[in-house]
Amino acid sequence: MKTQDYIKMEDEFGAHNYHPLDVVVRDAKGVWVYDVEGKKYLDCLAAYSAVNQGHCNPKIMEVFVEQAKHVTLTSRAFRNEKLPLLYKKLHDMTGYEMFMPMNSGAEAVESAIKLARRWGYTVKKVEADKAEIIVATGNFHGRTSTIVGFSDDPSSYKDFGPYCKEAFPMHEYGNLEDLKSKITKNTVGILVEPIQGEGGVVIPPDGYLKGIETLCKENNILFMCDEIQAGLGRSGKLFAHYYENVKPDMVIIGKALSGGFYPVSGVLTSKEVMLTIKPGEHGSTFGGNPLAAAVAVKALEVIEEDKLVEKSYEMGKYFVEKLNAIKSPHIKLARARGLWIGFVLDTKARPYCEKLMEEGILCKETHENIIRFAPPLVITKEEIDWAIEKITKVVKELD
Ligand SMILES: Cc1ncc(COP(=O)(O)O)c(C=O)c1O
Repeated sequence: MKTQDYIKMEDEFGAHNYHPLDVVVRDAKGVWVYDVEGKKYLDCLAAYSAVNQGHCNPKIMEVFVEQAKHVTLTSRAFRNEKLPLLYKKLHDMTGYEMFMPMNSGAEAVESAIKLARRWGYTVKKVEADKAEIIVATGNFHGRTSTIVGFSDDPSSYKDFGPYCKEAFPMHEYGNLEDLKSKITKNTVGILVEPIQGEGGVVIPPDGYLKGIETLCKENNILFMCDEIQAGLGRSGKLFAHYYENVKPDMVIIGKALSGGFYPVSGVLTSKEVMLTIKPGEHGSTFGGNPLAAAVAVKALEVIEEDKLVEKSYEMGKYFVEKLNAIKSPHIKLARARGLWIGFVLDTKARPYCEKLMEEGILCKETHENIIRFAPPLVITKEEIDWAIEKITKVVKELD
């Protein structure tokens, strides 16, 4: 079958909840993917930062295959020999006391919401069913019905209600005064992304995360930081909140936690918060299974061993400098934290993405006029130079 045959079959029999570029991927290695006709592309999306370690990372692959020969899934009614190692690894790497494993990012966010509410009722003593979690404008935390209920993007929430808006008051992202005005005696958590990825790599003003930490301390509220896309090296630090030296009460992780081999996510927090949920009160068939745990430990080790955080920081600086040197009336600016770049145009970004695909670069528009460049963190200077040449060509053609 050829590209067009696959597209036809997909559109006929599959849900139309995505608008993918017309490339059909068959193979991938490192920063490169190959379509069914054998054409090679530089992947500048990295599966929304799930393949920070590079596609089909050989070290993770080895563990994945080896573990699959032993045991992949046991019920959490039994213990398995890999999960404790993941708990310990995350503790050693992040300093958090405990971890609760889930699968998708949205499930991890849901788990964090349940933990915050449970803590609110049992520790903070908020009146029954009154707990509030303050969220931000422009947020993206996943696609479950609770989560889309506190999105302000109609394409996420429209016609999926009813919602419980009172449970998730919204403040303007980056605005501490507005945030302060939303705090009540029922506030149990403040949930934010340290940088908004789906929002277009939106970096909040300096002092915002520090301000949230202070407000949380002053008002006995949990600071809940969604690092699902920002975390594990993408921003040039292990976590994006390190840029402000804060310690959120909860850190939510996913995506690169498996290097793209398997959905692995979860919540890092203190014993005080984690142990408010008792046996039988929350769980997941696949969460914490031995295959997931083994893969996650290796995915974390690769981030350390291959110095991916440092690489992200250095290569990100290099990439964004080169992007900002491209002259075009349509380019507003390129902003970045690590290898996470929002390339902001004054016009629709989709035609640029389509042309870039023709030139062998895969990237995706976000919010109509922003292109997000977020390649695997293993990208080299030479590969960035190659990309810049292609991007410059496309920008000039579309001027
Ligand atoms: C910040 C953030 N939170 C949550 C999610 C949801 O993760 P998943 O798609 O794995 O459910 C995403 C996905 O893009 C995300 O970027």
